[in-house]
Amino acid sequence: MKIILTGDRPTGKLHLGHYVGSLRERVKLQDSGNFDEIFIMIADAQALTDHAGTPAKVRENILNVALDYLSVGLDPKKATIFIQSQIPELFELTAYYMNIVTVSRLERNPTVKNEIAQKGFETSIPAGFLCYPVSQAADITAFDANVVPVGEDQAPMLEQTREIVRKMNDLYGENLLVEPEIYLPGSKVCGRLPGIDGKAKMSKTLGNCIYLSDDTATVAAKVKEMYTDPQHLKVSDPGHLEGNAVFTYLDAFCEDTATLDEMKEHYQRGGLGDVKVKNYLKEILENTLTPIRSRRAEYENRPEDVMKILKDGTDKARAKAAEVLSRVKHAMKINYFG
Ligand code: TRP
Repeated sequence: MKIILTGDRPTGKLHLGHYVGSLRERVKLQDSGNFDEIFIMIADAQALTDHAGTPAKVRENILNVALDYLSVGLDPKKATIFIQSQIPELFELTAYYMNIVTVSRLERNPTVKNEIAQKGFETSIPAGFLCYPVSQAADITAFDANVVPVGEDQAPMLEQTREIVRKMNDLYGENLLVEPEIYLPGSKVCGRLPGIDGKAKMSKTLGNCIYLSDDTATVAAKVKEMYTDPQHLKVSDPGHLEGNAVFTYLDAFCEDTATLDEMKEHYQRGGLGDVKVKNYLKEILENTLTPIRSRRAEYENRPEDVMKILKDGTDKARAKAAEVLSRVKHAMKINYFG
């Protein structure tokens, strides 16, 4: 069996960074026909580990993320889209896994460490936040997933999951849980798309995103202000590619590598202006976003239908998680009433 599980925290609309980093790949995997099951989780419970005081923000973004999923072409007939918090079996599994993970192991997780610093949590880390990698192990193992397509920043979560799987199997029975593999984006540039300001990462907090739901005029305005090469003052000056967001985006989106290589050469030689390169990028982004927009238009005014898709997906996912939880409790011999 080949089973995929992946997901996103619903804390905002999804942007082009999500698209090249994971969504585009998910759709390809979905359409490859190589997988028996594909589970896509809206990780609202994980989002609440650092949004306890603002649950509305999480709740309101569930529909946004679902719309983004459907817009990029995730197909509920092929992929099961579900809401994490509605599957209590995940929390039960988490509780058992928590006993085989040490606090110091959790404190070493580099991604969690970064997030703690970013959020200024150093002196007051919510316990649930520190433990979210354990709950992520439950998310993955509850579906017997063996392929987890995520960005590079999730590698420590996969490592933690694999440790938990090995320990559980050691303690309670060989082959009890499936050991998952990370599936990374094909290229480095797709792993981390910079913001339009050229900063290392596209992020809502930095306000440097192009959203999948942005219209043509908004995308045009954002491309217009995009960071390029500050030393490229006159068209005739030689330009630099390094750190030049426009070219980084072209690397991530442009499939015509011959044309792109030629442009890069011309730019570096001098004589190719930023406006021309930006116009080309605009055209490429429009090609990407047009089908996404038209799928969004189909669903946008039917929130009840989208909720129905989530409800059906959640029912299906819950049945699978219940099966795995029962298997685990059986192996642990804590199924007292049969
Ligand atoms: N941590 C992931 C993120 O921040 C979201 C997530 C939660 C996830 N559970 C998961 C991803 C399980 C893959 C598998 O994007």
